[in-house]
Amino acid sequence: MAQDKIIHVCSHCDAQYSKWQGQCGECGKWGTIKSIALGPGEVSAGEVVTLGASGQGAARLRLGLSEVENVLGGGVVPGSLILLSGDPGIGKSTLVLQIALGLIKNTPGEIIYVCGEESPEQISLRLKRLQSSGKELKFLTDTGTKNIVATVKKYKPRLVVVDSIQTLFDDALPSEAGSVAQIRAATGQLLQLAKSTNIPIIIIGHVTKDGVVSGPRLLEHMVDVVLYLEGDGIHEHRLLRSVKNRFGATNQVGVFSMAEQGLVEVANPSQLFLNQTNETYPGSAVSVIMEGNRPFLVEVQALTNKTSFGYPKRTAAGFDSSRLELIVAVLSRRAGLKLDNHDIFLNLVGGLKSKDPALDLAAAMAIASSLSNQNLPQKSVVLGEVGLGGEIRPVPYLEARLAEARRLGFENFYTAELKDIKNALNVLGIEK
Ligand code: TYD
Ligand code: MG
Repeated sequence: MAQDKIIHVCSHCDAQYSKWQGQCGECGKWGTIKSIALGPGEVSAGEVVTLGASGQGAARLRLGLSEVENVLGGGVVPGSLILLSGDPGIGKSTLVLQIALGLIKNTPGEIIYVCGEESPEQISLRLKRLQSSGKELKFLTDTGTKNIVATVKKYKPRLVVVDSIQTLFDDALPSEAGSVAQIRAATGQLLQLAKSTNIPIIIIGHVTKDGVVSGPRLLEHMVDVVLYLEGDGIHEHRLLRSVKNRFGATNQVGVFSMAEQGLVEVANPSQLFLNQTNETYPGSAVSVIMEGNRPFLVEVQALTNKTSFGYPKRTAAGFDSSRLELIVAVLSRRAGLKLDNHDIFLNLVGGLKSKDPALDLAAAMAIASSLSNQNLPQKSVVLGEVGLGGEIRPVPYLEARLAEARRLGFENFYTAELKDIKNALNVLGIEK
């Protein structure tokens, strides 16, 4: 006969122990460990379903926002649980409101908006900026997880928005709101709710300083779709990225610009990350990066300046700094550039961040161009990964990248055909 088992669980971080202890060994909190009896665990047979009979494959809900639809793989799948996360103030609440309003326009009905972060009055101010009455939105200020589930079952809305998951609370659990145990329990209940009612649910999750969704990474495992809204906080552009999608391709990117009246879709994102004058000058090189399956033109800017004091500085913005060190070393050793008494600054225009290796060659050429004070040829695009031997390697999706560059009027393309960095400097006419 099975016996009740006792486990000891930290109410703050959810760590489990076989023996009780005063301090949690995981999170270091005192007095947070509670003893929980697990029942003998009755086992009952489950129900099985046949494919096609389960209502799957229902049409996706359109939003009228093609950037969001593309990232989701074609619209919102009924019954899906979507996590939207990003830094505070980046525009998550704004985006989710726009999604809700777009969805309602195409599929009339109601939306339940669980507002744990803000009051309905604050949200109505946002609605005003978006120039919408928002009369289809029904606000729920109760953040009790069970009450939310009951309310959704009663009203059967088109969509449920939870802003944010960190504010939900289930009093059956001993831990505080925002703790790992609460977030996990709330997400589990919302997942069940979405699947059983076929209503899509979008939850907003905060990101901690180190860039992970606050609380558990496991939140990302539980949901169907994980979206990140990114931006640098200075420029107005925002990238919406899918890092997980059970219904479509991942790493798709949507581009928006934060305006007075909410997020505006950017149809021609390549222009965002180029300098506006379209003129070449020493230290500038244009390349094409891939974000998911979308090519973006990006301008790389370099500035070299004689070091006036101490060690030469190498500073990168938007570009991997150890990659910059490597490129500088390759330029010195393989092409003989005298960089050891120069400060080097490198940045991507428009506040973009990218680790696309195709930028290597553009970074190298921009640095050489600044050092020699000579322009790269007009209307040129530089694409290639640079190896330690100074060799230039081809980049994936070359055709897609070149096609985008041609579309924007670029005519001269410098790629892995240049073979090595020394030859590249020669051909581009920026040899020192
Ligand atoms: P918000 O959606 O509240 O961000 P989050 O939910 O991620 O914390 O929006 C943040 C910022 O966006 C806020 O500082 C104001 C700005 N904003 C605009 O510039 N235009 C707008 O139309 C709206 C609604 C907000
Ligand atoms: Mg918000």
